Amino acid sequence: MRGQTVLSLVTLSQIKIHQPFGGVVPEIASRSHLEWMNTVLFQALADAHVEPQNLDGIAVTCGPGLVGALLVGVSAAKALAYAYKKPVIPVHHLEGHAVSPVLDTTTPSPELPQCLAIVSGGHTQLLIDRTGPAQWAPDFLWANTVARSRDDAAGEAFDKSAKLLGFPYPGGAWIDRKAREGNPRAFSLPRPLPEKSIPDFSFSGLKTAISLEVQKLQEARALNPAVAADLAASVQEAIVDMLMRKIRLAVANHECRSLALVGGVAANSRLRSELQTLGIPVSLPLPEYCTDNAAMIALAGRYRFEQGRFLKFPEFVSLNAVAYPKGPL
Ligand code: KG4
Ligand code: ZN
Repeated sequence: MRGQTVLSLVTLSQIKIHQPFGGVVPEIASRSHLEWMNTVLFQALADAHVEPQNLDGIAVTCGPGLVGALLVGVSAAKALAYAYKKPVIPVHHLEGHAVSPVLDTTTPSPELPQCLAIVSGGHTQLLIDRTGPAQWAPDFLWANTVARSRDDAAGEAFDKSAKLLGFPYPGGAWIDRKAREGNPRAFSLPRPLPEKSIPDFSFSGLKTAISLEVQKLQEARALNPAVAADLAASVQEAIVDMLMRKIRLAVANHECRSLALVGGVAANSRLRSELQTLGIPVSLPLPEYCTDNAAMIALAGRYRFEQGRFLKFPEFVSLNAVAYPKGPL
């Protein structure tokens, strides 16, 4: 990354190796990280035509996530930084998602305050950004969260429902596609926490509801592709409805003048079209920056670097991966 420009982006997806298990297997994930880390790292440098000695710093995700996989990244970053005497910039995974719309250089500067909706496989969280990322304080993610899921994340709800419908992992994109052939009102599914006094989300009831519907349909031998499409459309409608309801509430309560939707679920076509009804400008990352990628971590790292929030050589040697960071990294 130079300024805001992505010089290269190499993404190695592990989806295929986890697919037979219906979800991520942590040990396989870390082993695969270890196997591919150097290849991906040096490919990214080669594609950018940048020598390691010319880097200003090395940004790395320290958490949250699977600790084994995180450790591989943190160790690689430390090794490279040690060899070339470069600073290391620890980055929180969600901070990467949060800055991802900025990677689209055609996105205008947002009107503040902006409601930032992080909807991924592991997180569903609404934040209010009053400053823009260049001025974010170290505790930005903690101090500005106004809503979160009390149980499953929205992406997890998509994935678990998809699994029950027999779609491969990760199911979000499958549901998105199948839903186009189905009727979103075919099944009546729960929408918990409807109260306006509650800013939070809850998605875990959905998998129980889908599981019961699937069981009933299987017993009646009625689970055919058309019915599966109706269920996919209905579950997507329920998730989008719940997301939109709490997003509207946060926008109204905090007088937001714009919205950014980030994370894997930001790729969902139904959610994207519903956002247009909000009546405020909406920023969305380009599709390649919705799901996990290194460009968003590099940009979050650049903001931190400019604020002087990095670890100099050799003080980064004690840097560690954190599965569930409870405070600033
Ligand atoms: O942000 P991400 O790549 O990884 C995490 O940090 O969790 O998000 C992955 C999640 C998965 O749950 C996946 O099913 C979901 O994003 N996802 C989608 C779509 N594309 C990916 N969910 C709904 N519709 C999509 N089109
Ligand atoms: Zn993510």
